[in-house]
Amino acid sequence: MKGLIPAAGKGTRMEPFTNAYPKELLPVGEKAVIHHAIEDMKEAGITDITIVVGWKQHAIIDYLGSGEELGVQLTYVVQDDRDGLAGAVKAGEHVIGDETFAVILGDNYVDDKRAMPDLVDFHQENGLEATIGAFCPDDVTSYGVIDGEDGIVNGLVEKPSEGEAPSDLAISGMYVFEPSIFDAIEKIGTGAGGEYQLTDAIDKMREDGEKVGYREIKGDRIDVGTPERLREANREYDLRD
Ligand code: G1P
Repeated sequence: MKGLIPAAGKGTRMEPFTNAYPKELLPVGEKAVIHHAIEDMKEAGITDITIVVGWKQHAIIDYLGSGEELGVQLTYVVQDDRDGLAGAVKAGEHVIGDETFAVILGDNYVDDKRAMPDLVDFHQENGLEATIGAFCPDDVTSYGVIDGEDGIVNGLVEKPSEGEAPSDLAISGMYVFEPSIFDAIEKIGTGAGGEYQLTDAIDKMREDGEKVGYREIKGDRIDVGTPERLREANREYDLRD
């Protein structure tokens, strides 16, 4: 299995830091948040990892290099049009090829190393085409939201307005995909925020009859998209086992 980590966005809510660096280099403990994402991949035995870069890409490449020091092999691809997460995943298609792959968003910190291996096992044991790592946030409206039952997804909504959310279960930023996700990405138009949303592509797979599942991830996860969440991620890191 391969891995893909989207890390191309600017992170406007973390300006002015992100005027100089991508948000994936924000530190959680002594390491950049994307460094933790790579370690999560390694826990699941995934060492062939594609990093999708864009904004301030050289800072990420300077930090991670070839991946050798981290015990992984990294390939960098550039997302030219930063028009959404679906485009970031699509940018990696030529490197992923025809293989199953895991995704962790490069700004996500997860405090339990079992999260990724558990998600990969769930995907494979259930013969799924796409598996979404799920979690229950205080407010679902800033996430993708899952309408599901018993691990099977019946619908997805990206950043619903209050009252429109089908449940309190949100998309965590950890996924496992079969390569059919690439065809689904080609079929979607722009969605929430005028961007090409990965959530819409996964929902398209489901509409087309492919088996899409979800699994609550082990541990707590936080994306470092705002100053408050960055502080929270560091608090979680300090409290980890
Ligand atoms: C992205 C996804 C969203 C998911 C979130 C998790 O949103 O589109 O479905 O819930 O990551 O961090 P973003 O944070 O890029 O707005």
